Amino acid sequence: MAIPITAPSIEDDDVAAVSAVLRTGMLVQGKNVLAFEARLAELIGVREVVAVSNCTAALQMALLGLGVGVGDLVVVTAYSWLSTANVIELCGAQPVFVDIRPDTFNMDVEALAETLRRVMSNRDCARRVKAILPVHTFGQMAEIDRIISLGAEYGLPVIEDAACALGARLGDRVAGSQGVLGCFSFHPRKAVTTGEGGVITTNDARLADHMRALRNHGQRPGAQPPVFDLAGFNYRMTDFQAALGVTQLAKLDRINAARRAAAARYDRLLAGTGITPPFVAPGAFHVYQSYVTLLPAALAARRVDIMASMKAQGIETAIGTYSMPSTAYFQARYQVSLPQALDIASRSLSLPLFEALTAAEQAAVIATLCEAAAR
Ligand SMILES: Cc1ncc(COP(=O)(O)O)c(C=O)c1O
Repeated sequence: MAIPITAPSIEDDDVAAVSAVLRTGMLVQGKNVLAFEARLAELIGVREVVAVSNCTAALQMALLGLGVGVGDLVVVTAYSWLSTANVIELCGAQPVFVDIRPDTFNMDVEALAETLRRVMSNRDCARRVKAILPVHTFGQMAEIDRIISLGAEYGLPVIEDAACALGARLGDRVAGSQGVLGCFSFHPRKAVTTGEGGVITTNDARLADHMRALRNHGQRPGAQPPVFDLAGFNYRMTDFQAALGVTQLAKLDRINAARRAAAARYDRLLAGTGITPPFVAPGAFHVYQSYVTLLPAALAARRVDIMASMKAQGIETAIGTYSMPSTAYFQARYQVSLPQALDIASRSLSLPLFEALTAAEQAAVIATLCEAAAR
């Protein structure tokens, strides 16, 4: 038995689309990037989409686009992949970490309100805070309306880290369409992939043009002769990646439906095992970029053994994600510890989830997990 944690849904039409671009010899940002951006704009319901080389680049550019620079502060959720906080440091700014809800693993809005009250009551800090950066963790949207309205009280824009949340909704809100900017990833652990890849979404045409300049050496979009009026990166997406993106997007609903059905099957298999399935908040359309369970606290110390024992039987698992303030770099800099993020990070366990996963494989995953946990 060999069950990987994930497997992208790559089919003949994906391969053909990439090959066709390779044969043209026109490999960098071109008409397929435009088509990919247009399709995503329609799907997410935003006016502007800017494709870039990955979501980390997208987040970094989003912060720069909002003027985040040396000495500034960005209020950010504590539990995420390291990119989310690293980009703040890479702008010369500092993260102000907010703890998470133990059920959805998303930014705790009460903790955000408390953090904003504290930080904004200090005049020096208040002037340095530039943005709020929530994450739609594992494909379930954070409470975006409440976060945006809290931000608005202090005049703070919200950037959505929607890396894992393409197609996710909360009520009628679509992930990546609510903040001033949204950032998505197309890494192979996401539902649809371009290999590496990312996009920035926005309804602000001026910000979108700024992003387009930043991704392309600072060249103002459309200006002839070329005008370079800022210092930019080369964060362009290649055209064959975008061609793959277009064929992948056509499968998004099918893939998300299969992932949601597999998640529901895991939920049933976990009933009565003592292992907690992911919680879905009322009104949330969870797209399960990862299916992240919680081991009972008593088993936290044995998580490594449980994972190793499952691996020995051919089943790959992963931890959920990281309590970012607890990692070596951020600990050395800030000595912050947030209890919910720390607890969830210590006992979360992500199970295999991909479109082709069979019901029999899922049953084997849960049987092996229960056996390893009971040992
Ligand atoms: C929440 C979150 N933000 C950002 C990223 C970075 O995405 P990328 O790998 O495309 O740079 C990831 C990657 O998994 C992520 O999970």
